[in-house]
Amino acid sequence: MENNQFNFFKSREINSILKPLREERIVKIEKYENKELSKDLKIGVFGWYAVCPSIELKKNKLHFFSLYDQPLLIFRDKENNVRCIKNICPHRGASFYGGSYENNELTCPYHGAKFTPDGNCQNIGRLTCTHIIDTNYEEYAKKIHLSQYKTLERDDYIFINYLSETYTDIETVREDDQINKHSLSNNGFDIKEYASEEVLVDFKCDWTRIVENHLDILHIFWVHGNTIPDKDVNRNFLVSFKQKININKDYIESIYYYKNDPSNEFIRIRFIPPGRILIYKGEPEKSRYLQVLDHIPLGNNKARVIVRHYRKFMKNRVINNLILFKEIQRRTFYKIFNEDYIILKTQTFNHKVGLIKNEEIKLLGEDRIIKYYWDWYKRSEEKDNPWIHSKKIEQNMDVYDKLIFKYPPEINKLDILNNLKIIRKTFITYASPLILFLLLI
Ligand code: FES
Ligand SMILES: [Fe+2]
Repeated sequence: MENNQFNFFKSREINSILKPLREERIVKIEKYENKELSKDLKIGVFGWYAVCPSIELKKNKLHFFSLYDQPLLIFRDKENNVRCIKNICPHRGASFYGGSYENNELTCPYHGAKFTPDGNCQNIGRLTCTHIIDTNYEEYAKKIHLSQYKTLERDDYIFINYLSETYTDIETVREDDQINKHSLSNNGFDIKEYASEEVLVDFKCDWTRIVENHLDILHIFWVHGNTIPDKDVNRNFLVSFKQKININKDYIESIYYYKNDPSNEFIRIRFIPPGRILIYKGEPEKSRYLQVLDHIPLGNNKARVIVRHYRKFMKNRVINNLILFKEIQRRTFYKIFNEDYIILKTQTFNHKVGLIKNEEIKLLGEDRIIKYYWDWYKRSEEKDNPWIHSKKIEQNMDVYDKLIFKYPPEINKLDILNNLKIIRKTFITYASPLILFLLLI
């Protein structure tokens, strides 16, 4: 029976033969779900996104990215507050790419407008045309001001509060209740107890597909069966689970127990909207590992994932370095993302050109966390309309591609770099002392 589930994805014929059976099962599940959906998630697609690890944002460096195709930039001001600014100069709409942040001033590369971190233009005289022609630009120029979003740093991540409106007068950023839903300590994890490693990966596919992929445990047996170091995850054998769903206004959580041993837990997956997923095992306080996946909707078919892996085992730095643990972990992450990538990319294509509709591919929707997720996304997207900029840009408008994409899995660059790093470190750690020893004797 389990094997047939894979065949569903492969064969339309089998699909149509089993359709009546499937529909019957779906009806039953939907009735049950509708009852639970009443107490639903309160956060929509607007809200706090972890967009960058703190360590990536160096002083005096402009960091460019986008959310829902809106170009943005972040930097640290003199007080070490993170500023998130629309990457559009209010003078003539140029990007700050090629500009600078020095002496606490952001300078536009086009006509040299200088802005303080809170958004005031410091050299309006430079931008007026009164010295060329006799006109009154000064009044207009006084209105030019940067637009910003609120930011906060938590657990060494930089968060942006992405909303439909921006601010022109953020002096200091006030705390926001909603950010606490993302904080790892508020989710029960004491991160001081863990060691961690991290990778950033960019995908040329729809971000919602990546979130679905991370909520989907069925695929891991097939796609990652040879990569994930768990004896129960392999291609030849599909484990059956009992699923328990916890849902409240802040998150949806799915706990998988072994069907043949219901007291034994396989994994927990917690989705905290709009973009965070926590994967761990057992109660948070006791979990020996935690994976934090932050999904960033850069734009139409462009998404970034920040993956951080916290672990209580192997905390000793010396031993970690000796067995090159961090690099080996990274290599595993890249491998896993490469395995998913081609599938997510073609799935996005099929979806975007209308070859498939979510309503037609319901089998996976039987996993209730995925059904809840899509219900949440559809409702939130309709309510918030975050893709408003995306709809206006042409498909070939790829001016931001080079700025945005960091580590696209399709060019395997990071994988190669990581492998080179392992070779270099192995040489330094093991081969060079041996050579030195041989030379000495
Ligand atoms: S567009 Fe930025 S200074 Fe003119
Ligand atoms: Fe995957």
